[in-house]
Amino acid sequence: MHTKACIFDLDGVLVDTAKYHFLAWKRLADELGVNFTETDNERLKGVSRMASLEIILELGNRHLPVIEREKLASVKNRWYVEYISKMTPEEILPGVLDFINELKANKIKIALGSASKNTPLILERVGMKKLFEAVADGNVVHNAKPDPEVFLKAAEMVGTEPSECVVFEDAVAGVEAALRAGMICVGIGDQNVLSDSHLVVKGLDEMNIEKILVLEKRLGYE
Ligand code: G6P
Ligand code: MG
Repeated sequence: MHTKACIFDLDGVLVDTAKYHFLAWKRLADELGVNFTETDNERLKGVSRMASLEIILELGNRHLPVIEREKLASVKNRWYVEYISKMTPEEILPGVLDFINELKANKIKIALGSASKNTPLILERVGMKKLFEAVADGNVVHNAKPDPEVFLKAAEMVGTEPSECVVFEDAVAGVEAALRAGMICVGIGDQNVLSDSHLVVKGLDEMNIEKILVLEKRLGYE
């Protein structure tokens, strides 16, 4: 098998935290008097905290100094942390644990690549911490997706060449980051949205080793 490591995005791939991000951003938008919908929330997927806030301010045509923006971002994060502090292992998305265990049984390294600074808390709450050999998250990475830094860092941490890594991503910015890192990318979600990835599935419950082997073959890796 050509693949040596699999790198997973967190939000929207392993757990559905997008709903908590939405609730916290919505509360902030309401306080600011900015109209913010679930459709707008799609634009925040995979995007860093400050960049997310900037999108919301732009929706309301609001301009605020950096110091004010930093205060608002930390208020949003406080509310977000209240939600995720109550997460349980039942919130791990379908198929995630079976697929990761199948990979491990085949000696594939497992790493995490996420922009979120709250990654350690989420992994702790859902009981997934021990599954990862490496965690590259918003606390160790400086350039947000679509910059490839987060995935290159994860590959380095598990000692694997980028070309031997497969990334699982639900956000357009994340797919671009994986491709820029020179990795194989499996999109999780809608084919029309994630069409740049090498393969798209609706969720990890649709993934198995066999599909990786077929993909490797199609891409000319043996
Ligand atoms: C992930 C999510 C984004 C979130 C970002 C930063 O990429 O998809 O919606 O804004 O992480 O998360 P944080 O927990 O650090 O605010
Ligand atoms: Mg994501």
